[in-house]
Amino acid sequence: MKILAIETSCDETAAAIVEDGRKIISNIVATSAELHAKTGGIIPEIAARQQVLFIIPVIEEATLPLRNEKKGKPDLLNTFKKIDALAVTVGPGLIGSLVVGVEAAKTIAMTTGKPIIPVNHVKAHLYANLLNGTEKPDFPAIGLVVSGGHTELYFWQSINNIKWIGGTIDDAAGEAFDKTARILGLGFPGGPAIAAEAVKIQFDGNPGRIQNIKLPRPMMKEDSLNFSFSGLKTAVKRTVDDLKMKNKFNGKTVSYLSYEIQESITDVLSFKTILAAEKYKVKTIALGGGVAANLRLKEKLTKESGKKIRICVPPPSFCTDNALYIASCAFHYNNPVSWKSIEADPGLSVEV
Ligand code: KG4
Ligand code: ZN
Repeated sequence: MKILAIETSCDETAAAIVEDGRKIISNIVATSAELHAKTGGIIPEIAARQQVLFIIPVIEEATLPLRNEKKGKPDLLNTFKKIDALAVTVGPGLIGSLVVGVEAAKTIAMTTGKPIIPVNHVKAHLYANLLNGTEKPDFPAIGLVVSGGHTELYFWQSINNIKWIGGTIDDAAGEAFDKTARILGLGFPGGPAIAAEAVKIQFDGNPGRIQNIKLPRPMMKEDSLNFSFSGLKTAVKRTVDDLKMKNKFNGKTVSYLSYEIQESITDVLSFKTILAAEKYKVKTIALGGGVAANLRLKEKLTKESGKKIRICVPPPSFCTDNALYIASCAFHYNNPVSWKSIEADPGLSVEV
């Protein structure tokens, strides 16, 4: 079954064709991230405007492997006949961005009569683990989705049975990376920028202690499966203000702080995820979302689970937003609805 999936929940415009939830036929992603770098965060109106510009070219390019004519004006209507169903992210996300993908998918469904499957973006991130080129999880598993807007733990009981078991009560892990990177004057997105700084001193021995920089590990020792990252941002701001007052805020302290930020976030994420794996007695942890691309997180999960638990992390390009996992999730749920009843739902619960 070939599914054409469309994903426009935030600042990426993505379309992909995937067969049987795993075989990648095409994967196209356009992003407006560089426009948001200047402001250190996503401006929803700019993201939405770029979605409008990108959506048709991205869909056209994604259909290229199925087209007979490789040059000239694409015969999209005939090409759409070769797919079996459509899938589209309906939420959660930015309303202005979501509607662009949803309306595009509805239009294709209406004109072709193809079934259309609505997809929850957050849960779908985990389905990146089922694509060809990944190490497949065994079920039951614990799923951790860590992205710019979400930090959610799931009990992934079977391939299409996922139960939410915990999440952040304030900022998401990716948001913590992005906001603290901004305080340090690093680029956007903050996760890769902080990781690149941290790696400069990773093997320097007790990096935080040398510089007397120690950040909190919020909610780490609690038994709950919830997270809180907003206090970290405040602690970083206080430390930076203090360093500036002492004239010690420089390239070296930015690297030390980056190291300590990455340690704090990954300590909490790995502790809670392993706690969930123990509580639910599973042997596999599967990650998804942009922060899953963080190498230190995988390193810690692998080390701290003592090899009793297998850690599945898709390749970085499958972790960040794309339409491959939307197609894979749609294939495994296979719950088409009438295009008339599909609507963008920015506040869609991560629990459904
Ligand atoms: O899943 P994603 O592409 O978009 C959302 O749905 O939010 O995740 C984006 C987030 C950003 O916060 C970014 O800073 C973070 O993923 N990120 C990383 C890394 N690569 C991306 N965080 C830590 N380490 C990375 N290597
Ligand atoms: Zn995402």
